[in-house]
Amino acid sequence: MGQEVDKKRINFLPKGKVKMVGFECEGRILDIGGGGEGIISHLFGEKVVAIDLSREELKEARSNGALRIEMDATDLKFLDEEFSKVTSFFSLMYMDPSDQRKVFAEVYRVLKKEGEFIIWDAEIAPCDGGEKDVIALSLTVELEGEEIQTGYGVYWPGKEQSLESLAKRGQDSGFKVGKKEQDGNIFYLKLVK
Ligand SMILES: C[S@@+](CC[C@H](N)C(=O)[O-])C[C@H]1O[C@@H](n2cnc3c(N)ncnc32)[C@H](O)[C@@H]1O
Repeated sequence: MGQEVDKKRINFLPKGKVKMVGFECEGRILDIGGGGEGIISHLFGEKVVAIDLSREELKEARSNGALRIEMDATDLKFLDEEFSKVTSFFSLMYMDPSDQRKVFAEVYRVLKKEGEFIIWDAEIAPCDGGEKDVIALSLTVELEGEEIQTGYGVYWPGKEQSLESLAKRGQDSGFKVGKKEQDGNIFYLKLVK
């Protein structure tokens, strides 16, 4: 959410922490929703193709040599099997279930065989219909010797998700589950094509 929101409307999730470490990767990494802080671009630089619906978010993100393209992840403009890794760092929480389904299908299509879809995201309970209609998360990201304080917020109704719901969405799209980890509300999910 770019604009200021009345605090009374915000349901704050407990503060979270994510430790990011680089990994070996052949070829390019496609980062879905790579605007915001641009954490994946910061970590992997020129290896990254960062796409985002919002040109403004992309412009504000750390680029570190990444190629930034304004693109809708529900309708990727890449040919089949172009990437070894696709990442989504707290971007799926911004999408409703029907968009998530399309994104998973598109990610599956553009990944090579044995390619990985790596997801960091937050567990979000169903909106209770009260006056709080925005869900927000403060996050500390540990990035190879540097700590970044950031926060992500989104309109709450329709955004419920969990590690298990995204793992199931992955399986429904043809992926195998490679790894699942959860710490408080924050989770990590590796899906393998
Ligand atoms: C706040 S960012 C997530 C954090 C970001 N990955 C980082 O490194 O800080 C979420 C982004 O997802 C983008 N987004 C939402 N739906 C999208 C879609 N269908 N296709 C591409 N980007 C989308 C939003 O524009 C927003 O910039």
